[in-house]
Amino acid sequence: MPTLKRARPAARALTSVLLAAATVTALSHSASAADSLASAAAGKGRYFGTAVAANHLGEAAYANTLDQEFGAVTPENEMKWDATESTRGAFTFTAADQIVSHAQSKGMKVRGHTLVWHSQLPSWVSGLAASDLRTAMNNHITQLMQHYKGKIYAWDVVNEAFQDGSSGARRSSPFQDKLGNGFIEEAFRTARSVDPDAKLCYNDYNTDGVNAKSNAVYAMVKDFKSRGVPIDCVGFQSHFNSASPVPSDYQANLQRFADLGVDVQITELDIEGSGAAQATSYGNVVKACLAVTRCTGMTVWGVTDKYSWRSSGTPLLFDSNYAKKPAYDAVLAALGGTGGGGGGGGDNGGGGGGTGATCTVTFARTADWSDGYNGEVTVKAGSSPITGWSVPVTFASPQKVTALWNGSPSWDAGGTVATVRPTYNGSLAAGASTSFGFTVAKNGSSALPAVGACTAS
Ligand code: G3I
Repeated sequence: MPTLKRARPAARALTSVLLAAATVTALSHSASAADSLASAAAGKGRYFGTAVAANHLGEAAYANTLDQEFGAVTPENEMKWDATESTRGAFTFTAADQIVSHAQSKGMKVRGHTLVWHSQLPSWVSGLAASDLRTAMNNHITQLMQHYKGKIYAWDVVNEAFQDGSSGARRSSPFQDKLGNGFIEEAFRTARSVDPDAKLCYNDYNTDGVNAKSNAVYAMVKDFKSRGVPIDCVGFQSHFNSASPVPSDYQANLQRFADLGVDVQITELDIEGSGAAQATSYGNVVKACLAVTRCTGMTVWGVTDKYSWRSSGTPLLFDSNYAKKPAYDAVLAALGGTGGGGGGGGDNGGGGGGTGATCTVTFARTADWSDGYNGEVTVKAGSSPITGWSVPVTFASPQKVTALWNGSPSWDAGGTVATVRPTYNGSLAAGASTSFGFTVAKNGSSALPAVGACTAS
């Protein structure tokens, strides 16, 4: 078993409270709301992750969305060969370390991506003769896995080693061409010897349905299992668009691999499109995973459309402004999320006023640095549904709010009191919650804001 396990929601809440307490204080904290993708997936015994790019972690809305919604991360590029060993024997882990540290501090799982891949491969590797290439491949696997030993839930040991099309053949690559068919087995055996606790996965695309390529991978996994070659999981990237939609036999394909005795994971999910059609496809993917007992988790290939590798195809769950899309709602619903309800931490913020609809608020400082901090206010509906809410937040002068998301502020004349109302997130079912957040420039004052009572309508 991996040393690091993703904390359950209660543990994550506790961790967050302790972190907040360590940095000064927090009025109260509801951590990852019960209606997040991560907590809903955890309720089904799965993780829900995203690809992360280290250079966006400093963007408040990016980090907040990541922390609020996701329970696992995959470094999008930072663990690849060109990023970690661009010069032979000189290893660079700075950017990947940043992602792993962030994930660990939030109790998230980490998928390692990827050790042996023909792409993003430095030219010095391609130039090596066979025996030297074998040494370099095994050393690369060893150095990366040793560096992250105990911190990685699953490694994509070999990525995309098969050709597209009907041949079912291996893809030409320096590894295939010089080391022959045995290179995949060798990579997995080396990987197991370095970190026996990490799950070892083969990962590929266009293998999501039953076809010649997935049949070839299936035959390899079956052979590995029969001969005791160490393999624990198969990753299905699941990059979909109109030319390559979710296959009708997606679930059956996941199931046949699971039946070989490996876990299956959806590793790079994105679906181009928008609105109801995109939402339906996303919901179907999640349902397929949930229907397969050994489908242990899902990862979308990015937090926001803004930074997707297919940005113009708007393939992710949050739009460029970090607003939740219908696809988000469909995923949450498929995961059994209620849009709130159940768990989620303390509720000792200001009480709602009047009769009928009520709401409560909780506040947490989610990040703190020398000249600024991020805050998050969670609004929770009482025992009746609400269609709107407002929360006054008073900031200490001379602090200035430099960003505010998932809420619309109106400011008093002095510029210190923001009355925040919903943008898209006014309607909440009974017991459901939503959050808005902000970044504050301290301007010399580290005081926390005073969050007033929530008023519901
Ligand atoms: O970081 C440099 C930047 O300094 C430079 O200015 C810029 C100019 O092009 O390039 C930047 O690097 C880019 C990098 O993404 C970071 O944004 C590379 O050019 C670009 O090739 C690279 O693309 C990545 C791609 O893999 C490379 O093959 C995508 O971000 C990443 O999402 C994608 O991920 C792959 C998985 O690893 C495997 N499965 C398919 C998936 C999608 O292609």
